[in-house]
Amino acid sequence: MKGLVLSGGKGTRLYPLTYTKAKQLIPVANKPVLFRVIEAIRDAGITEIGIVVGDTAAEVKEAVGRGGRWGVNITYIHQSAPAGLAHAVKESREFLGDDRFVMFLGDNCIEGGISPLIEQFGRSDWNCQIVLTRVNDASQFGVAELDEDGKILRLVEKPKEPKSDLALVGIYMFDNTIWEAIEHIKPSWRGELEITDAIQYLVDHNCRVFPYIHRGWWIDTGKKMDMLDANRLVLEEIEHKIEGFVDKDSQITGKVTVEKGAEVINSVIRGPAIIGEHTRIVNTYIGPFTAIFHHSEIEDSEIEHSIVLENSSIKSIPFRIEDSLIGRNVKIHRSPIKPKAYKLMLGDNSDVGIL
Ligand code: DAU
Repeated sequence: MKGLVLSGGKGTRLYPLTYTKAKQLIPVANKPVLFRVIEAIRDAGITEIGIVVGDTAAEVKEAVGRGGRWGVNITYIHQSAPAGLAHAVKESREFLGDDRFVMFLGDNCIEGGISPLIEQFGRSDWNCQIVLTRVNDASQFGVAELDEDGKILRLVEKPKEPKSDLALVGIYMFDNTIWEAIEHIKPSWRGELEITDAIQYLVDHNCRVFPYIHRGWWIDTGKKMDMLDANRLVLEEIEHKIEGFVDKDSQITGKVTVEKGAEVINSVIRGPAIIGEHTRIVNTYIGPFTAIFHHSEIEDSEIEHSIVLENSSIKSIPFRIEDSLIGRNVKIHRSPIKPKAYKLMLGDNSDVGIL
């Protein structure tokens, strides 16, 4: 079996961070979502992995490389335009050949792995398997309608009035019948070749398509609050360890990771939380569900339930920062220069909440 990871697309919902960064590379608990996806596929015993890339190809390639660090071989597939998930599969034909494959969306985060499911499909004669989960607002996703016996009746992409609460999770398994299906579908109302329509074609042509209902958590990390939710859930799940330096005046409670080269001085950290490599935490309170990525600095401040990316610095902020997603190379500090005022330099589409 082969693996196909989709890491193209636009990521407009995470602007301004994704003006400069592929959304799949934004870290959750200090590890890019895309790396977690590669690891999930590797853990299912798959070593041939294709990654579909678009405008952010250079950045994805630089971060992921050839896959040696995970013991897998990575092939990059350049999608000519972000024209839909089925379009991405179509353009991966040469890499996939007639093999069975699992397709994983590079921005999806799922509890535990799904190795048994992938292995089972690899050995079966099924044409396709999809993963579904119950959600509150199904209208944001592909939605499946099942009959009383659990057989798939219909799949609809982002319906205004969903007929069920079963959303399509971004993990799909196919055999070579998918090629005929993709040849027969037309672009949807949003102008994309939808994988949902290709799977509907398989259902309509009596192919063996099975749903699996996932019962753990699953997050499509498209927006800020989704990123923070995924960060919270993964921080609870991972094993924590202190590899950096914590001075005797600091207090660490709960599940906390301090990565190599990080320093914690005269600070309080309440887990679950993670402090990245070569990051300095000085006279600071870090509250639960916080991830500070590498080479950042937090001094004389308080922060909780937030993600801070690399090379950022937060100094002497009088109020606690919460529910925040702070990008790379950001500086938040007090300014001694009069007049006393907020002095901001924010990217397009920034969102700042002030007391
Ligand atoms: O996350 C689950 C949902 O993913 C499913 O419920 C939907 O049925 C499915 O269509 C998809 O919906 P999204 O609108 O969330 O997909 P998005 O545009 O965010 O793209 C998902 C991933 O695929 C993302 O990592 C970008 C990548 N992608 C997307 C497109 C449209 C590509 O590589 N190429 C593309 O052309």
